[in-house]
Amino acid sequence: MKISKIRVKNKNTDYSIFIGNKSLNLLKKQVKKLCPKTKKVGLIFDRKIPGKYKKKIKKQLSNYKLHIYEYQPNENLKSFSKANNLVEKLLKNNLSRNDTIVAAGGGIIGDFAGFVASILKRGVNFINLPSTLLAQVDSSVGGKTGVNSKKGKNLIGSFHQPRLVISELGLLKSLSKRNMVCGFAEILKHSLIHDKVFFKSLTKNSKKILEKLDFEIIKKTISRSCKIKLFFVNQDEKEKNKRMVLNFGHTFAHGIEAANNYSRKINHGEAVLLGMILATRLSFKKKVCSQDTLDKIENFYKTNNLPKNLKNYFSSNHLNKIVNFMQIDKKNYDNKINLILLKKIGKTTIPGKFRLSLKDMKAELRKIS
Ligand SMILES: NC(=O)c1ccc[n+]([C@@H]2O[C@H](COP(=O)([O-])OP(=O)(O)OC[C@H]3O[C@@H](n4cnc5c(N)ncnc54)[C@H](O)[C@@H]3O)[C@@H](O)[C@H]2O)c1
Repeated sequence: MKISKIRVKNKNTDYSIFIGNKSLNLLKKQVKKLCPKTKKVGLIFDRKIPGKYKKKIKKQLSNYKLHIYEYQPNENLKSFSKANNLVEKLLKNNLSRNDTIVAAGGGIIGDFAGFVASILKRGVNFINLPSTLLAQVDSSVGGKTGVNSKKGKNLIGSFHQPRLVISELGLLKSLSKRNMVCGFAEILKHSLIHDKVFFKSLTKNSKKILEKLDFEIIKKTISRSCKIKLFFVNQDEKEKNKRMVLNFGHTFAHGIEAANNYSRKINHGEAVLLGMILATRLSFKKKVCSQDTLDKIENFYKTNNLPKNLKNYFSSNHLNKIVNFMQIDKKNYDNKINLILLKKIGKTTIPGKFRLSLKDMKAELRKIS
C-alpha cells in the first residue's frame, strides 16, 4: 500500500499527515528532520496500543532519551490536575524547549498530551501518532488541544499545531467495533457538512469501513475526512467563525456527554451521532432542510445500526440537564444556544445564524429526541 501524504500549510503552520500501513517506519527520519535539536522525548502511550506497536515506536525513537508515561484513557484523564501532574514530571526530567512530546493514542491521549505540550515551557514540539479511527480522521488534525472542566467539555485548552502526524492503519486492527463506529461518526459529519459525493461513497462503503474489510478504502476515507476538516480549519484556525461548522451535532454531543458525567455508557462518537441526528431533526422542524434530506440520514443510521434514540439513554426528566450543559458551550456568546443546522447533505447554516433560548431548546429537545 502506498502511504498518502497531506501537507498542511498556512500562514501559521506547516506539517504533514502520513496515512498508511507501515507508516510508523517514517517516524525516525521525520523526527530527525523536523526536530533536529531534540534530545529528550516525552512519550505518552495509550495503554491499549498493542505491544508490537509500542515496541516499534520506541525503536524508532531510540536515538533519544525517552521518558515514557502510560495512561488508561477516559474523559477524567482530560483534567487540569492530571495535565499539571504530567507537566511536573516532565519538568523534573528537565525537558527543554527543543525537546518533543510524542502522543500515541486516541483522541483523549492526543488532546491531553497536546495540551501539556502547549503549556510546557510555553510550548514544545508535539508529534501525534493517532491510534483510533476518530483520532486519525479528526482529533489529530487542526491543532485543538484541551481538557475538561466540571462545568463542561473541553473548556480549558489551547491551539497548538503538531509538527507531524502519522496515522498507522495497522493500529486500527485491534480497535473495537464500538470505537470504529465513533470514528465513523466524525467521517459522517464531514460528509454531511461539506461533501454529498463523499456521503454517497460512505453509503456504499460503510460496511467495508466499519468491519475493516478494505484498508485501501479506509485510507482514502481518512484522507478525504482530514482534507474536509482542513478546508474549514485553514480558513479559521482559531475558530472565530467558519470553523464552527465543524461543530455540527457537537453542541448537543457535549451536553449529552456532560449530562452523562463523561461515563463510558455513551462515548464521544456516540454522543456525536446522537447530536447530528437531533440537529437534523431540528433542521427539518425549522424548515431548514427537506423531508428527503432527513429521510436519507435517518435511513443511513438505520442501515448502519447507529445510535439515534436519545431516550434509550436518558429519561425525559433528564433531558433538561443536557440543555443546561449546552448553554455553557464555548461557542455561545450570550444566554442563547448557538447551533449549526443542516440545509441539505453537504451544506449547513452559517455560524451564528440559528440560535435558541434555553426555554425553547428544552421544549424542542422533548419533541426531537
Ligand atoms: N482535538 C480535537 O479537535 C478533537 C476532535 C474530536 C474529538 N476530540 C476528542 O477525542 C476524544 C475521543 O477520542 P477517541 O474516540 O479516540 O477515544 P479514546 O481516546 O478514549 O480511545 C477509545 C478507546 O480505544 C482504545 N484504543 C486506542 N487505540 C487503540 C488501538 N490501536 N487498539 C485498541 N484500542 C485502542 C483506548 O484505550 C480507548 O479505550 C474526546 O475526548 C473528544 O473530545 C478532539
